Amino acid sequence: MNIVVGITGGIAAYKAPELVRLLVKAGHSVRCAATEHALQFTTRATLETVSANPLYCDLFASGRTEHISLKDWADLLVVAPATANIIGKVAGGIADDALSTLLLAMPPQHVLMAPAMNSQMWAHPAVQRNIETLRSWGIAMVSPADGELACGTTGPGRMSEPEEIAACIASLSTFHSPLSTQRWLVTAGPTYERIDSVRFIGNYSSGKMGFALAEALAEQGAEVELVTGPTSLSTLRSPFSAHIHETRVESAREMYAAATKVFPHCHGAILSAAVADYRPAETADHKLKKNGSEGMHLELVQNPDILATLGGMKQEEQTLVGFALETDHELENAQGKLERKNLDYIVLNSLRDKGAGFGVDTNKVTILGRDGSRKESPLLSKREVARMIIEAVTL
Ligand code: PMT
Repeated sequence: MNIVVGITGGIAAYKAPELVRLLVKAGHSVRCAATEHALQFTTRATLETVSANPLYCDLFASGRTEHISLKDWADLLVVAPATANIIGKVAGGIADDALSTLLLAMPPQHVLMAPAMNSQMWAHPAVQRNIETLRSWGIAMVSPADGELACGTTGPGRMSEPEEIAACIASLSTFHSPLSTQRWLVTAGPTYERIDSVRFIGNYSSGKMGFALAEALAEQGAEVELVTGPTSLSTLRSPFSAHIHETRVESAREMYAAATKVFPHCHGAILSAAVADYRPAETADHKLKKNGSEGMHLELVQNPDILATLGGMKQEEQTLVGFALETDHELENAQGKLERKNLDYIVLNSLRDKGAGFGVDTNKVTILGRDGSRKESPLLSKREVARMIIEAVTL
């Protein structure tokens, strides 16, 4: 998710960088927005370093409507700590600085607050009334904990620990998603077609696009069957690894067997693997030696087309998404594959676009729908492209 962490002026602001760190570690893109008072307790340099993004603090600094572009970018705005002041401002519709302006621009259902204040302030009828108002609009609250407070007293008002807020964000992000009850198949990486015991026919796919798709689906709560060719990537370190079931294969025929087995149990499939169209007709179980002649002939036979096979198996309620890697006549070729293979969507990437395709961390795609729809992405990280694809094909 794209998350803005809003920080207001309470002592618990010193814990905000830790929350940002946890969210980044969980795979979220994070930007920070702070009030002037928050920067008495934490620093711009700390927040910019942990989020790896510039801090949004001054409503007029950029001379643009940054609160609106941030609102468009963010899936969630988390205010931690949320002081009595910011809670009161939102309840009263006041927007007099960068963060309160962003808060009023954001749909309430996309806001989470972690209040923190002195116990007596927390118990004040005005604060409790404001909290109720915000809740009734759909703003989620991580209630403050009981404990020792900075003012020396003990009682309710202490901000929940960053780990608790991060856990709450994780459950919120998947709770409302229709994907949380679905299973999807993703294919990733290259296939290796064996020639002999040391050689194979392969390609430059790294698996990055497919792994990003698996993560983006799991992030939305889906169970993912990831069938991947040889790659150095692993989902084990992913915060969503519990949702991703990985099957490692080597050849197109192994990928075919794994994919056709799970597809009938899936709501949909996205096939991003670069599958070899041909394999050697014969393989040797020893290392082939030079035989003294100038050349060598390798006879190739066709591999099964996994995507076309799934297109034939597809039931009405299933969604099938293919990829097309093209170098010329891109749209025409992709449209042809969409129709021939009975797909719902095809994701076109072209090797003519710099920064797109094999190996790199970025991609630039056009998503064509069977219904004639067409969505184009700019050059984005594969993570962002994956999220865009998931959004387009699961609407
Ligand atoms: O792994 P990365 O380094 O991140 O690179 C990502 C990528 C460039 C591999 C990816 O974005 C991509 O374009 N994947 C599809 C590559 C490809 O083989 O395209 P194609 O146009 O040849 O195949 C069309 C579709 O049929 C693809 O969905 C492919 O998975 C599928 N196919 C092809 C042949 C075959 N025998 N079986 C298949 O299922």
